[in-house]
Amino acid sequence: MLNQFIIKLISAQKVLDIGVYTGASSLASALVVPPEGKVYSLEKSIKFAQIAQENFKKYEVSDRINLIIGDASKSLEHLCQEGHSGTFDFSYIDADKTNYPTYFNLSLQLLRQGGVLAVDNTLFKGKVFDLDNRVGQQIDNANKTFISSGAVDVLLLNIGDGYTLMRKR
Ligand SMILES: C[S@@+](CC[C@H](N)C(=O)[O-])C[C@H]1O[C@@H](n2cnc3c(N)ncnc32)[C@H](O)[C@@H]1O
Repeated sequence: MLNQFIIKLISAQKVLDIGVYTGASSLASALVVPPEGKVYSLEKSIKFAQIAQENFKKYEVSDRINLIIGDASKSLEHLCQEGHSGTFDFSYIDADKTNYPTYFNLSLQLLRQGGVLAVDNTLFKGKVFDLDNRVGQQIDNANKTFISSGAVDVLLLNIGDGYTLMRKR
């Protein structure tokens, strides 16, 4: 998967995974970080978190994953307050679209300079061009937030459902 390739490319050790569901993206990251690496996985649903935890056990990567249950914005704020700012190498955003700008800003704070941010669904099946569509509007707003921040180099890849790659300046 593309996230794994990027994690290997930049030798990432500390990874944020925002939106876990049953654990696929966290698992993919945990399988490629070094043994001393850590994936911080943020999920609000207790039910999905439990399923993900079982999958992490099955693949023997539980020791490399810190699963944090709760609203991701709050969890990211806590990480900032706990002194993690500027320490993450890679952040992957794949949760509720309305909060993408918040996840972007907090991820930026948590990433080191040169750290990489990846965002999924940034074309949203083309609906990003349909501004009568609510989620299309949310994604459009997020894309504009990324570009106008001036804090990142941005590359929107038209693969899958749209995957935006950014590097913190
Ligand atoms: C598209 S799924 C994530 C898929 C996962 N990254 C993967 O690759 O399999 C989105 C997840 O974000 C979670 N989510 C939605 N809103 C959230 C929030 N405010 N805080 C934390 N997680 C949230 C949902 O419960 C869902 O599990």
